[in-house]
Amino acid sequence: MKRDAQLARVSAPMVAKVLALTTAKKARTRLAGANVHKHVQITDFDPLNPAIAADPYPHYRELLAGERVHYNPRRDVYILARYDDVHAAARNHEVLSSARGVTFSQGSPPFLPTSDQPAHTRMRRQLSPGMTRSALEAWRPLVDQIAREVVGDLLTKRTADVVSTVATPMTMRTITNVLGVSGGDEDAFRRLSNQAIRITDVSFSVPGLVSLAQGITGFRRLRALFTHRRDNGTLNHSTILGQLAAHAEHGRLSDSELSLFAVLLMVAGFETSANMISTLFLTLANYPEQFRLLGQRPELIGSAVEEQLRFMSPVQNICRTTRADYRVGEAVIPAGSLVLLAWGAANRDPQQFDDPDVFRADRDSAGHLAFGTGIHGCPGSQLARMEGQAVLREIVASVGRIDVLEPPAWTTNANLRGLTRLRVAVAPR
Ligand code: HEM
Repeated sequence: MKRDAQLARVSAPMVAKVLALTTAKKARTRLAGANVHKHVQITDFDPLNPAIAADPYPHYRELLAGERVHYNPRRDVYILARYDDVHAAARNHEVLSSARGVTFSQGSPPFLPTSDQPAHTRMRRQLSPGMTRSALEAWRPLVDQIAREVVGDLLTKRTADVVSTVATPMTMRTITNVLGVSGGDEDAFRRLSNQAIRITDVSFSVPGLVSLAQGITGFRRLRALFTHRRDNGTLNHSTILGQLAAHAEHGRLSDSELSLFAVLLMVAGFETSANMISTLFLTLANYPEQFRLLGQRPELIGSAVEEQLRFMSPVQNICRTTRADYRVGEAVIPAGSLVLLAWGAANRDPQQFDDPDVFRADRDSAGHLAFGTGIHGCPGSQLARMEGQAVLREIVASVGRIDVLEPPAWTTNANLRGLTRLRVAVAPR
């Protein structure tokens, strides 16, 4: 009861803020369009459109062939697609702020991804003890073991949906173990984290508000599950949350920050990594000669995972808000504007990557932007890579052939892209 009241206190201003920002945005949108800078190209590219979110690549090609800055008047958002521009914007945290939210909802609670310096630096430092290179490396044997089990399960079934058979259990079991919340509640964590992610996918419409309400409910329940674990003393010190809780005991972290970290890491670490793994199967099925190459040269597994992250980036975009006028070439994005950094498009920029719409396991895709860059760059990249490599190693060692049995079903989230279902038949090597 007390927590519900607390949550209502926290979420009510947030809902009000989302509504106010969205209404203000609608009003601005009516005025905008006529006033855009002459070097800014108008576009109807809209990641909130489910059909576009499911297959954004033809749209990216148009954006990349056009002006450096695009503007969608309906969504009142400026769009950067070219690699150099997205890279520079992500590193310019002085002008491009995260504090107004990093998704279209622009009303997320102020926390690590939605904060600017110096608050951001403080929170990032708090997170670091459980996420150092050596702390994460210690999880490798467990990650390898989970990969063996889930790919083994797929081979036993021969015909299965790889999302529910491999991608989901792989990433859910990894993240719940690494965070320190593994065990009987795993299914609830997965369901609630899927629900909580909707908090980011909001628009001023009935489905948008339903999504927001479900997101808040998911968020609230995840928080309750986590605090229950902590209060029972069942958080192991070697886990990320165990490390955070240990720091909290020394007065460096409030209870509410601790819960927010738990939910953030769950949401940030689960669906993204599951998207990477599910789409990896699709790529291997679509590029059988590359799959064969990996069988002959397993030393390419690391570069193949990087290439997959570039080729089908699990996080397609993130937003910022300009604090001052921001110049890109000859175009000027006015202060106070929402700007979309399209990682997914930048990773297919032909100026940066040769033949970018083709998957090549031996490509040097170093510098891809799938994990972002700059002060908000992904702190979980090492863990995600470990998971991708472990699964790919198992596939290469034990699977001879992958055939897709039905058209794949894609998520329609505006920021995250992955599969909700991919039925395949596999043959052992
Ligand atoms: C393939 C998997 C993953 C992808 C593609 C991915 C991608 C990203 C991207 C693009 C950002 C930058 C956001 C921005 O610039 O505003 C980010 C931030 C973040 N990621 Fe990941 N991520 C993945 C896995 C993980 C994992 C496994 C964890 C945790 C265990 C995690 C935790 C975070 C956190 C906490 C942030 C916010 C960092 C900050 O704002 O300082 N991610 N991620």
